[in-house]
Amino acid sequence: MKTVLITGASGGFGCEFAIQLEQAGYALLLHGRDKARLQLTLDALQYPERHKLVFADLSSRKETEVLIDSLVGSELYGLVNNAGFGVWGGFAAKESVAQADVIRVDLLAPVMLSHAVLPCLIRNKGFLINVSSLAAETPLPYLATYAAVKAGMTFWSEAIRAEHQGEVRVVTLAPGPSPTGFRDVSGAPKGKGNAFSTSAEQVVLSSLQTLDAGGGYCVPGWRHKLLWLIQKLTPRFISLSLMANYLKK
Ligand SMILES: NC(=O)c1ccc[n+]([C@@H]2O[C@H](COP(=O)([O-])OP(=O)(O)OC[C@H]3O[C@@H](n4cnc5c(N)ncnc54)[C@H](OP(=O)(O)O)[C@@H]3O)[C@@H](O)[C@H]2O)c1
Repeated sequence: MKTVLITGASGGFGCEFAIQLEQAGYALLLHGRDKARLQLTLDALQYPERHKLVFADLSSRKETEVLIDSLVGSELYGLVNNAGFGVWGGFAAKESVAQADVIRVDLLAPVMLSHAVLPCLIRNKGFLINVSSLAAETPLPYLATYAAVKAGMTFWSEAIRAEHQGEVRVVTLAPGPSPTGFRDVSGAPKGKGNAFSTSAEQVVLSSLQTLDAGGGYCVPGWRHKLLWLIQKLTPRFISLSLMANYLKK
């Protein structure tokens, strides 16, 4: 049975990836930090005995390396770089450690993990799904570090896709607002961006359809596509001023 590692499988998109990838017939390595929440994901699956739980705090280089070492011999077919979080608030007001952790978890860990398993994914003609964000499409005041990191994720993922065209399918997933744990973790005020909210189920389904089509850049659902179009059509000086007002708490 082909094995797929999903990082951040303990909730939100990660749990939904677990449900839909199990339905597609894969055995799963479900990663997270929180054992109880990861167990809830396992409980939501139809064949829990088929899957394994793995733990690592991806803000820790050491724990990321231990996770990578544990993958030796597991002959991965797929990797979903999904784990991530943001820190909402004025840049100067928020702790620098938390902001550096956003860089480590949302960009450094995916780069390290992917680099380690890519030869295996290529050998198995498998896939890589990188969960980026529409936050990557425009600088975001009050989510400055997160948006910069996701811009890095999108550029890196799209470049990898071009480098390995025909060898491994790569999906760069760019969702907008979705009802997951993201807002609570980031400290975002309720209500922002709700008009564009799209379910985790739809987001994951769209990314797997893009995967079936051979990989690509995926903006899921019509609401997120509309938001993407607005981002593309709005000059940066206007969007910066609009977002600085809109995203301020
Ligand atoms: N929801 C949105 O509106 C939205 C939009 C665009 C992109 N995204 C992206 O979607 C991805 C999934 O987030 P989500 O929306 O599903 O949020 P979520 O429900 O909060 O899930 C985040 C996942 O990331 C894991 N994680 C966070 N910090 C970690 C760390 N230091 N080490 C290891 N794992 C860590 C969490 O594990 P623990 O449970 O162990 O903490 C959890 O499983 C993220 O990359 C996020 O940036 C979200």
